[in-house]
This record gives sequence, structure tokens and C-alpha cells, in this order.
Amino acid sequence: MSLPLSRRGLLHGSAALAGLSVIPGSLSAGQHAPGSNGAKDTLRTLTARAGSAMLNGRQTTGIWGFEGQVPGPVLRVPQGEDLRLRFANQIDHASTIHWHGIRINNAMDGVPGLTQPPVASGQTFDYRFRCPDAGTFWYHPHKMSSQQIGRGLYGALIVDEAKPPQVDRDRVLMFDDWRLDETGQIHAASFGAIHDRAHGGRFGNTFTLNGQHDHTLAVRAGERLRLRLINVANANLFAVRFRDHVPTLIALDGQPITPVPAPEGVVLLGPGQRADVMIDAMGKPGARFAIEMILSRSVETVGHLVYAQEPPIRTTPLDAPIALPANPLTTKLDLANALDVDIPMEGGAMGRLAAAQHHGQRMSLRDLVRSKGYAWALSGHAGMPRKPLFTARRGQTVRLTFRNRSMWPHAMHLHGHHMRDVGTPAAQAWWRDTVLLFRGEEKTVAFVADNPGKWMLHCHMLEHHEGGMGTWFEVTG
Ligand code: C2O
Ligand code: CU
Repeated sequence: MSLPLSRRGLLHGSAALAGLSVIPGSLSAGQHAPGSNGAKDTLRTLTARAGSAMLNGRQTTGIWGFEGQVPGPVLRVPQGEDLRLRFANQIDHASTIHWHGIRINNAMDGVPGLTQPPVASGQTFDYRFRCPDAGTFWYHPHKMSSQQIGRGLYGALIVDEAKPPQVDRDRVLMFDDWRLDETGQIHAASFGAIHDRAHGGRFGNTFTLNGQHDHTLAVRAGERLRLRLINVANANLFAVRFRDHVPTLIALDGQPITPVPAPEGVVLLGPGQRADVMIDAMGKPGARFAIEMILSRSVETVGHLVYAQEPPIRTTPLDAPIALPANPLTTKLDLANALDVDIPMEGGAMGRLAAAQHHGQRMSLRDLVRSKGYAWALSGHAGMPRKPLFTARRGQTVRLTFRNRSMWPHAMHLHGHHMRDVGTPAAQAWWRDTVLLFRGEEKTVAFVADNPGKWMLHCHMLEHHEGGMGTWFEVTG
């Protein structure tokens, strides 16, 4: 991997374009061509419906998926353009679509009861919003999320840079776990189980990459790959490893970073988090390398980098920059005048939470569990409060201090904004929409509240969220 660089790679520029949009179900380029918003345009429909998938390689499993497939289609839109589509809900439950990580117009954020009414079964809802940041995002329902995402309703939303770095292939890799029963079907009886809510969340027994138990990532020796890794699991956190290849991180949660080799060669992803990596595929023609999910108790092979037999397209890594252009994110924090918000995170099994507020009433943990199925509190409140946790003036810097006073890890997700860890050295202070906190950990993050509206802040361990670990704030003006 430490071979000297050459200039020959520049000859392969056209290959970068050829590598795009090859994932099955990907939108054809014309549907998002700039200026395609004319009146005659037909609105693309994205339908949530039942389907099936070969998740474990042995039998088909009934799933819910966008277009009946898992993952749903890859949506691509040029940076700064509008994404427009009609969501058609054909599952038997109300739903919405949330566009995870997009600094979106609040009305399009897809949070039922906060930004829009739920979309009833059989109904449609039209989403239209601008995508200000280029990068790797994803979409999923924000209603009954544990079950709807857990059954397969998710897909990638890729916002393309006007001038992306030169690569030979650009691929989305969505990692998931599933809880299947003995017959290979989704274990439905345990959706909403209080045990999962009070512990680490719903963990699976079957592991997939792009909905397959052994996904083939075809490459040719010498190619440069841009891979967009997304953790779409309900609650599991894991590290991704490409055997004998060291990925270089170029973006986290859609926001570019100064490129850095992945620490220890692995990419750690909490639920909801993404990482864009570059890999120079310098293996031999015909070789195969495992793609692995490293979990706390096991290592699961979910796919392979499979090298074609053809000779290398180049023998030293492509000599071209890999850094991404900056996004138009407000990165100037006014910490001296920040609005400070303290967020103790309490509850769960083996925790110390005795009681919490719920809609103005103090309830014991026992009563919260029994009457609401809640096991968690943020800032002393269990479940969605009627009033916002805080209100920021538009443009104000907000500093959040997360204090994980529980025995479990959490992935705190901020809607409509990206935040930076202000407690670590600047070089590692990456802008993210979802931050991981291990047990007992505290983290101080800050962001500029420049997007007006009502925004959620919740744990992306979906059973924790369902178990009371979600709140919201408002940006006025
Ligand atoms: Cu990916 Cu509020 O969610
Ligand atoms: Cu959590």
C-alpha cells in the first residue's frame, strides 16, 4: 500500500464516471438532471411495501422495503439541487421518510407529530427539498422505526459533488443485522420487547451487506474505490474491515475530513453513522478478500472484494487527490456566547435511574416501564416532551454536554444540523450528525443553530429511542 505514486492515473479519468450509478435500482441520471424541475416532470414515486430478500443465503425472508427491496434504491442528487419524490405508503402502518443527515427544510424532515402528520397506509406524501451538502446520507421511516427500519425500510441518499475526486468505482455499502427465527423469517414477536429497550437494543443473528449475506464487491486490480459505508442496524455498533486493505477516511456522516488512514485499518460505525473511504485495490488479479463486521462478540464475513482476472489497470496507486471539497456548513462556533445545554442520559438495565418526568408528571422507573414502555430519560425527561428541551435563536451557537450515566453505549443523532466535538483536539474535531458515547462517557459538542424549525435529538439505537430516549429543540427566527 505504500508504493510510490505515479502520474499515469490521470489517464483514467473517464473510468470515474463509468463507476457511478451502477447499483441495481439506482436512479437514472436524467431524473435528477439540473433544471429538470419543469411542470411536465413526472414525480418519481418511492413506495414502501412488502417484499422478500435472501438474507441468510438459505431461504427467502419476508421484508418491508422501498420498492419492496432491501436496501431501497440509491437516490442520487447533485449538490445544491432539489430532491423531489412522492412517498407512497403501502405497508399496513402509518409511516414517514426522514432524510438522515441532510440539513433540510424543517417541513421535509419526516418526523411525525413534529414536522408533518404521519402518512397513513395507502396514502402518499410529496417530499421536495434542497440538498446543501455533498456526501453520503440515508433515508428511513421515522415512525415505529424499530420495526420499520428493522424490517428493511432504508436506502442511501447520495449527494454528488460538482467535482468529485477521481475514482474508478463509487459504491454504497449498507451494513445491517437481522433477528430471524428458525424458519428464516423476521422475529416479529420481539419488536418492542422491553428487554431490548432496556439493554443494548435489538441485536440480530444474521448479518448482511447490501441485503446479502455474502455481497460481491467486484474490483479490478489497480482501481481506486470510493466506498460509502452506512450502519443501518437498529442498535448494533461494529467496525468494518477489508482484509489486507487499509481504507483512508475522507468523510464522516457526509462531512469531509482531512483524509486519514482508518485507525487500525478498521472503520467504527454506530447506528446511523456513515464513513466515506478510499481504497486503492492493489491486490492480485483473481484474489478475494473478506469484508467483515467486527462485533463485540464475533466477526462476521458479509462480503468479499473480488478481483477480476484481468491485468491491473495500473500498478501503483492512482496519483490524484482524494480530499473532498468543503461543504457550505457553518463551522464558526461562538463558544464564548454559546447556549449551554446539559444532557444527562440515564436509565436502562443496571442503571441508576429511579424516576423521571413524563409530561409534567414525576414517575418512577417502574411505572414508566409498566405504563409507557420507557426505560430511558434525557435531561430527566422520559419520552418526547411537549415543550422543547431548549430554544435557540437562529445563528446562535449551542453547546451540548452529553453525560452517559448508563451502562450502555448510545448514538446521539441531531436533526437538521451537524455538530463538532469541542472536547477533543481540533484535528480530530469532525462534524457529525450522530455521535457515539460509550458507557460512562461524556462528550461536549457544539453547532450553529442556523436551521429554523423543530428538530429532534435522539438516540439512534432505535429501541432506546422507542424506550424514551428522544427529545427536541426549536430554532426560531
Ligand atoms: Cu436516522 Cu431521527 O433518525
Ligand atoms: Cu441509546
